[in-house]
Amino acid sequence: MTAQASSLRARIHALLHFTDPSDAGRRWRLLHFCVLGVGLFAVILLSIDNLPLDTRNGLRYAIWAVAILFFIEYVLRLWVAPEEGRYREASPTMARLQWAVSLPGLVGLLATVPVFMWLAGYRIVGSDAASIFCVLWILKLGLHAPALGTLARVVSNERAPIAGVLVLFFIVLVIAATAAHQLERGRQPEAFGSLPNALWWAVVTLTTTGYGDVVPVTAGGRLVGSVLMISGISVLAIMTGVLATGFSQEERRREYLRVWEQVARVPIFAALGVVTLSEIVGKLRTRYYPSHVTIMRRGDPGDSMFFISSGECEVRLPSGGTVKLGEGAFFGEMALLERQPRSATVATARPTTLLVLYASDFYEIASRIPALADAVEIEAKRRREENLERRAGEPKR
Ligand code: CMP
Repeated sequence: MTAQASSLRARIHALLHFTDPSDAGRRWRLLHFCVLGVGLFAVILLSIDNLPLDTRNGLRYAIWAVAILFFIEYVLRLWVAPEEGRYREASPTMARLQWAVSLPGLVGLLATVPVFMWLAGYRIVGSDAASIFCVLWILKLGLHAPALGTLARVVSNERAPIAGVLVLFFIVLVIAATAAHQLERGRQPEAFGSLPNALWWAVVTLTTTGYGDVVPVTAGGRLVGSVLMISGISVLAIMTGVLATGFSQEERRREYLRVWEQVARVPIFAALGVVTLSEIVGKLRTRYYPSHVTIMRRGDPGDSMFFISSGECEVRLPSGGTVKLGEGAFFGEMALLERQPRSATVATARPTTLLVLYASDFYEIASRIPALADAVEIEAKRRREENLERRAGEPKR
């Protein structure tokens, strides 16, 4: 395969992965969501019985069109499968075969079944049956979007506390169902006469759903119901807390890895030892900006400084001139060092990834790593002098 085709394949692979931060990646994601939205909307509407025939046919054609687009996407995903990290060792054909029989591959294929039904001649009559497969579109989205992977990792990382909460849930459930069974079965033999029936009431109450189909009528039963409702809120609150903490820790871990990858491109950090660097990495945040976005304006208060890990920024000086800053450069340090407002406006000249260091962290790092603080200060001094010279060179008004 030619180098050109190989880089095209890598580019398409990055695009299809929903994590590509470039403009093209954003456009692709937006297009994908719109197409998916149109398709699902059409499937939902088509399930309404008494729609006019023209509307039904319009919806059917919309479903076919979306299925054809997803078929093209499936073929592309199959083509770029050799770019997946886990198939790197395999030959391109084996990589594609392995992807085709993986869960995302199978779901992707099933989601294109309406196209095959169309080709097989089920043009109009078969469309309603084909729409069953369209439900897989939403699953496909979950499999390719990073969110589901994150959820799986959170559940795996937090399995011990989640299991603890579930055990607590079952203990409360069984105790409450048994108590209600004993207290209520005399008055309501149908609803509370057996433990499975009492368990149904307990589940509906503990999850705070409360259908109201079964209600305790004795004083004791109502007391159990009250305790169960309050326990339900507490158990759900604990579960929410466990998952929220898990998500936040997972995001912090991923951000750490993202920063670690980027930080190597910034020369000012290159001389630092691993321990120092790992401390700094924990304080940096990545930010992606498309081209021509203003990062800071002259006169704004300065609350952070930035390191360019990829892309290019343009500093618009008060003298009217501009300075380009490329990969590895930093800006926004002058306001922090001088505790003054921003001295210039800075905007992206190309799509750019920045590492952000907030002021409080900057002061802490500067006090602990004098070599880093000195390097930043020397550059700030040079810039200050350059700006003074430029101003001095301006024609007097
Ligand atoms: P700050 O004043 O916080 O905000 C604007 C930033 O532009 C400034 O910090 C510097 O980082 C940067 N800057 C100002 N003048 C120059 C220059 N002459 N060359 C490169 N960068 C500059």
